[in-house]
Amino acid sequence: MEAKGYHVAVVGATGAVGQQMLHTLEQRNFPISKLTLLSSERSAGKKVMFRDEEYIVETATPESFEGVQIALFSAGGSVSKQLAPEAVKRGAIVVDNTSAYRMDENVPLVVPEVNEEALKSHKGIIANPNCSTIQMVVALEPIRHQFGLNKVIVSTYQAVSGAGAAAINELKEQAKAILNGDDFTPEILPVKGDEKHYQIAFNAVPQIDKFQDNGYTFEEMKMINETKKIMSMPELHVAATCVRLPVETGHSESVYIEVDAEGVSAQQVKELLKESDGITLQDDPSQQIYPMPANCVGKNDVFVGRIRKDLDRDNGFHMWIVSDNLLKGAAWNSVQIAESLVKLQLV
Ligand SMILES: NC(=O)c1ccc[n+]([C@@H]2O[C@H](COP(=O)([O-])OP(=O)(O)OC[C@H]3O[C@@H](n4cnc5c(N)ncnc54)[C@H](OP(=O)(O)O)[C@@H]3O)[C@@H](O)[C@H]2O)c1
Repeated sequence: MEAKGYHVAVVGATGAVGQQMLHTLEQRNFPISKLTLLSSERSAGKKVMFRDEEYIVETATPESFEGVQIALFSAGGSVSKQLAPEAVKRGAIVVDNTSAYRMDENVPLVVPEVNEEALKSHKGIIANPNCSTIQMVVALEPIRHQFGLNKVIVSTYQAVSGAGAAAINELKEQAKAILNGDDFTPEILPVKGDEKHYQIAFNAVPQIDKFQDNGYTFEEMKMINETKKIMSMPELHVAATCVRLPVETGHSESVYIEVDAEGVSAQQVKELLKESDGITLQDDPSQQIYPMPANCVGKNDVFVGRIRKDLDRDNGFHMWIVSDNLLKGAAWNSVQIAESLVKLQLV
């Protein structure tokens, strides 16, 4: 039986994530009967091609959601706070990419490979986790399931596209200026609304999002709290350090874990991840095979390599996890959630 089409809205359609959202909907041949593309007033009237048809981007208002069945939001937290309830009021299911609702106990926070079943409890809004959290939990879930998991320590190496289209532009312009010996003024990174801005080209900046009172950044707290929520493990020990690098797209993570089971070998972990959904194992030191962001861009999977046992703790393992932050970290995970909603007959 042919799947029926849905009226889908993409909010933030002109942004870094929104553009990938459209590309992914097209690539997955998601059943769409009507498509509404929304942005701020700045981009209203802009023309966007989708499946060889031209669409005009409209300003997002509460009325934009009349008749919409699935609304994919990636236009910033304040837009989601204001418009997601309006979309739900009009009968839409919202998949929200921002941090606005992620820790709301009435909102499922979903990575389909980990907790697809949580979708069944949705009350209109479903949250898409933070990009760096998504790729990590995809790799950790099979390990938790097979061997148990009690500790995670992660350091990230995150791409500028995680901070949106303006940050990609800033990296490119700065790199050009530096190579040409020209002056430049950082304006976006590390955090657009903060007082100080730092050079990102040829640099590493250990701040992603705003600092919290406990000395961690909000990005680090997202990784800590969201991992516990998605994996339903409030007791899991998680620590994170998040760093921005001059990479355009593709987040990398060095992850240390401790499992519950004793005597597990690195080979067992490799074999397990090789067979797991959504993961590509790239791990052969003898051939210098390991994941790198430049090779993962444009791909939906989470890539894992450098899996090795800790030298001091029998239950400790180190690994390197890379994924396209705009795809599995955002657009693909959102479209995957929409596909799960269709599959589970929740829409
Ligand atoms: N980049 C990532 O890796 C990533 C991953 C996960 C989640 N997210 C989240 O997704 C959201 C968007 O990220 P992005 O990287 O795509 O940012 P972006 O490139 O700056 O794009 C922002 C989008 O939101 C629209 N927008 C801004 N203000 C609006 C308003 N008042 N009403 C309606 N639309 C509005 C923009 O429209 P105009 O063209 O009119 O300005 C644009 O389409 C953020 O909340 C971010 O945290 C990003």
